[in-house]
Amino acid sequence: MSVEKPPVEICKGVNGLDKVVLREVRGSSAEVYLYGGHVTSWRNDHGEELLFLSTKAIFKPPKAIRGGIPICFPQFGSHGNLDQHGFARNRFWSIDTNPPPFPTVSTNKALIDLIFKPSEEDLKTWPHSYEFRLRITLGPGGDLMLTSRIRNIDAKPLSFTFAYHTYLSVSDISEVRVEGLETLDFLDNLKAKERFTEQGDAITFESEVDKIYLATPTKIAVIDHEKKRTFVLRKDGLPDAVVWNPWEKKAKSMADFGDDDYKHMLCVEAAAVEKVITLKPGEEWKGRLELSAVPSSYRSGQLDPQRVLQG
Ligand code: BG6
Repeated sequence: MSVEKPPVEICKGVNGLDKVVLREVRGSSAEVYLYGGHVTSWRNDHGEELLFLSTKAIFKPPKAIRGGIPICFPQFGSHGNLDQHGFARNRFWSIDTNPPPFPTVSTNKALIDLIFKPSEEDLKTWPHSYEFRLRITLGPGGDLMLTSRIRNIDAKPLSFTFAYHTYLSVSDISEVRVEGLETLDFLDNLKAKERFTEQGDAITFESEVDKIYLATPTKIAVIDHEKKRTFVLRKDGLPDAVVWNPWEKKAKSMADFGDDDYKHMLCVEAAAVEKVITLKPGEEWKGRLELSAVPSSYRSGQLDPQRVLQG
């Protein structure tokens, strides 16, 4: 008789780092490292990996893990004086055993609550007191949900930018199309953050891309033609969407990224970059990402205009 595995298991991962495994009864799973509060794996009920993880990922502080879903906080990219993408992605988070309740009670069993609080060292580089709570949930259909709650517990305002730096696994980047961002304005990181407007149809890839799309819909689709799979990203509180693929030359310059890895990944990052989030003392911000992977019977034009709200 097989012993059923628990919906939440705390164990050791690569290099003995603490890891949480979430399992849903139908077979989907997710893995979360306390280092970075970092989701490194999300599998569907056939056991297929849906997130990209670099073949050369380094699971060792202070390097952030290359792949999965790093958290960019309190700064996205180089939009500030801190290190690229802030420091939450290379700090040790803790399990939050008694998180403040959510407005609706979750019936999901496969979930974990994490918390990150700045250390004395962190306060020297960024003198702000806050509590960053992250709930990671695997839904019954295998959907992956991340909810961040950041509370300013300081006596002064707290300003930050943020991204869920989601690395999606794709069969072949040249067979991928993104829907939901066409005709939007974006800042081009490859052109000194200059502002442009996207032209034409859905977005496809044939060279390096590093764009911050502004005021994006709450729903974005990433269609992998070869795999016949569509990722649907739904987001809340996160108006922007970063699209990144380093392509061949940059891939070769990154020590923790395989030379050919760029062919099998695409980052589509639910973010708040252009408009900095500012919290008054005692205020809380919430940013939510919901990821689902569905077979590509999903066609162009199925984005529901009712849900295309400006963030
Ligand atoms: C993306 C940025 O979000 O992350 C890119 O837009 C950056 O400019 C990429 O190169 C990877 O960043 P890092 O710090 O993880 O190498």
